[in-house]
Amino acid sequence: MSSTAAPAPDLEPQSVISSEIAAIEAGYRQAGAEETQPRLDYPPYRSSLLRHPTSDPLEVDPEAIELWAPCFGDRDVDPLEADLTTGHPGEPIGERVLVAGRLVDGGGRPVRGQLVEIWQANAAGRYSHQCDQHPAPLDPNFTGAGRCLTDEDGWYRFQTIKPGPYPWRNHLNAWRPAHIHFSVFGACFTQRLVTQLYFPGDPLLALDPIHQSIVDQRARDRLVAAYDHDLTSPEWATGYRWDIVLAGGRSTPLEPAGAA
Ligand SMILES: [Fe+2]
Repeated sequence: MSSTAAPAPDLEPQSVISSEIAAIEAGYRQAGAEETQPRLDYPPYRSSLLRHPTSDPLEVDPEAIELWAPCFGDRDVDPLEADLTTGHPGEPIGERVLVAGRLVDGGGRPVRGQLVEIWQANAAGRYSHQCDQHPAPLDPNFTGAGRCLTDEDGWYRFQTIKPGPYPWRNHLNAWRPAHIHFSVFGACFTQRLVTQLYFPGDPLLALDPIHQSIVDQRARDRLVAAYDHDLTSPEWATGYRWDIVLAGGRSTPLEPAGAA
């Protein structure tokens, strides 16, 4: 037996959202000023209109924050935490993938010893979280969270399952492209950065207001990993390469924490 959730009649169709996306991008191209980061109030992403920040970031003393913020060191992060396919009684369902890349500064220099955390939906597009009531199956062998520290050359590396797309009710039949959320901590808690990795060739990218809220195509493309045959593990996993660039003209688009 299968069931299909009834669509909400009050949601707008994709055509309305796509028209808005196209108009905003045309305006951006006409203005001619390069933007490399997502727009925080982006009308096609409906909930961003009410919840986007309206004040400048609050300046805080990093040292004062460190008195009560979480802290970690090499000994707190077990290498096994970078493998999201283990730690359960059985194998998770889905396409096994290796995701790896370098964390670098604007000059291409490695950023070493940084805590990289990821979280994601399972192969069916379902998060292992009580807030996710999407009627897709949970996988008892997949939790969808992992972390590691970058090595001396700035490399991070995860083994996981390729996530599925999921609906998110921004508009009628809205689906998030397959993605993995990334968080990178700097030298202290106040430097945390959050972004998302996408997979190449996903037809949902062009339809997704969150991805399209980065209005510059080249900046958008910097969130899309590249299939890398050299990263694959023979007869075990496919491989994707995605570098995170913290500054400069090719910096990775970042977002406020908490996006869908
Ligand atoms: Fe997500």
